[in-house]
Amino acid sequence: MVTGGGRGIGQAICVELARHGADIVIADLNPDEMQETVELVEAENGRARALETDVTDLDSVESTVETALEEFGSVEWLVNNAGIAGPTASCESIDSDEWDATLDVNLRGAFYTCRTLLPSMKGQSYGRIVNIASVTGKRPLTQRTPYAASKMGLIGFTRTLAAEVGGHDINVNSICPGSVDGPRIQRVFEEKAEATGRSYEEVRSDAEDQSPRQELVNREDVANAVAFLCSSDADRMTGQDLNVSAGKVMY
Ligand SMILES: NC(=O)c1ccc[n+]([C@@H]2O[C@H](COP(=O)([O-])OP(=O)(O)OC[C@H]3O[C@@H](n4cnc5c(N)ncnc54)[C@H](O)[C@@H]3O)[C@@H](O)[C@H]2O)c1
Repeated sequence: MVTGGGRGIGQAICVELARHGADIVIADLNPDEMQETVELVEAENGRARALETDVTDLDSVESTVETALEEFGSVEWLVNNAGIAGPTASCESIDSDEWDATLDVNLRGAFYTCRTLLPSMKGQSYGRIVNIASVTGKRPLTQRTPYAASKMGLIGFTRTLAAEVGGHDINVNSICPGSVDGPRIQRVFEEKAEATGRSYEEVRSDAEDQSPRQELVNREDVANAVAFLCSSDADRMTGQDLNVSAGKVMY
């Protein structure tokens, strides 16, 4: 099950996990976008089911999990990928609704899916949970306090949940992508340029310069790391936060 699998990184994760033989449940808000992911998975000879889900709504998450378990029998791998960038603004100009909205999707959403799926994972004595955090959970990103707080929160959630459920052969890890090239990061750069009075090119080049390789990350790099953490090659990895950042963060 991949939350936010309708586009972007989540879509690449769905396709990659399908290549590894998984049936995919896509849990996202937008049916049209999810349909595109279904078609991409089917093009890999995989099976995908799109279930309209709002991860901030417990009823919605419970209904998706119920349908997934009915139709597929079990859920082995859960990828908490749904996330929003939140506002780009100084802390004192962020209103509490914007704060809540960011924390709701990025942090509460992962809590709801885990809370709902853990009983069946414990029942089958197996589970692999991967939370898509961010390097912004580890290092500051000015003008993005709610996002940074949500992602650092997700890393803390990962570690404590990993410690709680390890005895059931349930591994819980985070991936911390650096800036992933694509429409979302381009929007974020545009907003940052506007908020700081600089050009888009300057903001983008700053982001690239933070990598020793002077580059951003591709969504496929993140998808490959998810597939690794779900595979038996990573059976003895849990509670970790794995950077996929072209070296932007090394801790
Ligand atoms: N793009 C980056 O540079 C970058 C870097 C680090 C971490 N991340 C993280 O990776 C994840 C995916 O990012 P992306 O760049 O693909 O973003 P995106 O905006 O392209 O995709 C996010 C997906 O989440 C879905 N979503 C949003 N709110 C939802 C909700 N309430 N319920 C269900 N689905 C919801 C959206 O519909 C969308 O399909 C996010 O958690 C993001 O914070 C992204």
